[in-house]
Amino acid sequence: MNLNKTVTAKTFQKMKEHNEKITMLTAYDYSTAKYIDECGVDSILVGDSLGMTILGYTDTINVTMEDMITFTKAVSRGVSHAMVIADLPFLSYQISKEQTILNAGRLIQSGANAVKLEGASSFILDEISHLVSSGINVVGHLGFTPQYINTIGGYFVQGKSYENTLKLLESAKKLEDSGVFSIVLEMVPEESAKYISENIKVPTIGIGAGKYCDGQVLVIDDVLGKFAGNIPKFAKQYTNLREIMTQAINSYNNEVKNNVFPSSQHCFNLTEEEMKKLESAIVK
Ligand code: KIV
Repeated sequence: MNLNKTVTAKTFQKMKEHNEKITMLTAYDYSTAKYIDECGVDSILVGDSLGMTILGYTDTINVTMEDMITFTKAVSRGVSHAMVIADLPFLSYQISKEQTILNAGRLIQSGANAVKLEGASSFILDEISHLVSSGINVVGHLGFTPQYINTIGGYFVQGKSYENTLKLLESAKKLEDSGVFSIVLEMVPEESAKYISENIKVPTIGIGAGKYCDGQVLVIDDVLGKFAGNIPKFAKQYTNLREIMTQAINSYNNEVKNNVFPSSQHCFNLTEEEMKKLESAIVK
């Protein structure tokens, strides 16, 4: 692990070629991004999952460009090593090429090193080529694509049959030809993800896609056990921040109510001289 080196799209490619796993976690704020970066995680995704984890929506549909810009700026201020990737939110890249490039440009100017978008329709493939030829690195996203929740109809595993696995591979190849430097595969059977990963040149980053992807991504709130909503089957919770936070908040609440906090170590005091003057002052 070389923390002096900045991770780039080329680093991703080299890691795939050398069979070195790529790590990615989401982050939405400065401190968390800083800790992730200091641990040597290769990339940080400012995911539109912030719609659920930070903003309390039930899905990603209501996340705006303004939301993404605010959190991308916060994250990028905390990062010096990892690659920062920011999600283009719902409807920010579906209207026209001009709007897509402006929106992607705003995320890059907010500190992202790359943008991620979902799907592989011919319209989107065209947009990816346009972004890449304008100097913007792009990550694709296939399998379960949360911004399509209403047309998919629920949180379903994608590519569950031989035919659908081949369709996913075809989309992955098209994304690759359009210029993406990596592809997120979400909620895809492990065998299908393996097959896709072995048959494309760019690295795949799996979430709920098994261990054969070239890298893995998880939502930080799931990893830390902080999210108040449901934790998906594919996420591994490494600690229980919700419990730790609840304990600390309860302690604070009780200590204030029982006059325990603040104690002398948390207070500022007048000098004795000033105190005497104050005591002898006549209140008018
Ligand atoms: O928004 C997000 O966090 C994502 C990951 C689930 C890959 O897109």
